[in-house]
Amino acid sequence: MLGLLLLLQVLVSCLRLGYSEVVPSFKTSCTKFFYEKTPPSDSLRPTNAARICQVYDNKYRFATLYDRNRRIPVYSAYKYQPGKGSRYDRWFVEPQLINQNYRRYMDTEDSIIDTYGITSADIGKSQAIDQDYVDAQGLDRGHLCPSGHQTGDDNKTATFTLTNIVPQYSTLNQGAWKEYEDITMAQKTQGCDTTYVITGAVPGNTDISNGRVNVPSHIWSAACCVKCNKPLRAWGAIAENERSKNKVKVLELLDLENRLAGLYGGKGVTLFKNACARNKAHILDGEASDDFSTCQRITGY
Ligand SMILES: *[C@@H]1O[C@H](CO)[C@@H](O)[C@H](O)[C@H]1NC(C)=O
Repeated sequence: MLGLLLLLQVLVSCLRLGYSEVVPSFKTSCTKFFYEKTPPSDSLRPTNAARICQVYDNKYRFATLYDRNRRIPVYSAYKYQPGKGSRYDRWFVEPQLINQNYRRYMDTEDSIIDTYGITSADIGKSQAIDQDYVDAQGLDRGHLCPSGHQTGDDNKTATFTLTNIVPQYSTLNQGAWKEYEDITMAQKTQGCDTTYVITGAVPGNTDISNGRVNVPSHIWSAACCVKCNKPLRAWGAIAENERSKNKVKVLELLDLENRLAGLYGGKGVTLFKNACARNKAHILDGEASDDFSTCQRITGY
C-alpha cells in the first residue's frame, strides 16, 4: 500500500514537471497563442530570459517572454478576445522563476511566502514584486496582455501578474495607448475570426525601485488577423514611453519590424510566420475582403 502511494506520488510529480510553466521553448509549449504556432524571432530575446506559459486555475491563458535581469516582460502573446467579466483584486508573481520545482501556476506573494517559507526579497531576486511599483511616480502598472482583451473572470484575472507588467507612464497608459487598445483594435479586428497579438516593451535607460525594474523606452504591439484559416491583415503600433509624450503610431507590420530591429540592436525581427498577411494587406483591406464572407467558398469544406 505504502509502495503504491509512493509510486503515485512519483507519477504525480512527473506529470507536474511535464506541465511546468517556465518552459524551454514556445515552439513546443503553449503554442496556441502564436500565429501558426510560431513565436517571434530570437532577436528580441535578451540574455537570462524565461519563457512563461501563464497558468491560472490549471489553464494556459497567454504566453510571456520575461527578462529576469530587467524584471520586465519582453513581450506577451495572446489571442484577442475582448468581452465581459471582472477580475479578482490581487496581484500575482511567478513561482517557477524563483525555483523551477515550485508550483506551476501564478500565485500571490503571500501564498508563496506561506507555502515555501521564503521572503518577499527572495521572490524579488528573479522578478518584480508589488513593492517595486508602490512608489513609482507618474507610472502605472501597464499590462502587455490587457484584461480588456480577454473574456471571462479567469482570463481577465490572469493578466494581473507582474510578469505581464511594465512601468508605463500614466498619461500614455490611460491616454493614447488605451485608445489604441479599446478603439483602434476593435476597428482593425472587424471581420477577423481570430487575431493573434504580440505586445512588447523595449528596454529603456531609466528604472524604478533603486534600479531593480527597467522603465521601457517604447511599448509596441503587433496583430495578425485570421479569417477562414487564412491571414487577412496585419498591422503594428508603437509608442514612446515618456512622461511628456502621449502618442501611438499605427503602422504596417513591416515598418514596425524594421523599427524594432533598430531598437533591439540591428538584428532582423520577425513577429509572425510568413509576416502573417503583410504582402496582401493592401488587397484584402478593401473590397476584396467581401470574398471572405463565407468560409466554405475559400476553404472548400
Ligand atoms: C479564456 O482564454 C482561452 C485561451 O485564450 C479561451 O480558449 C477561452 O475561451 C477563454 N475563456 C472565456 C470564458 O472566454
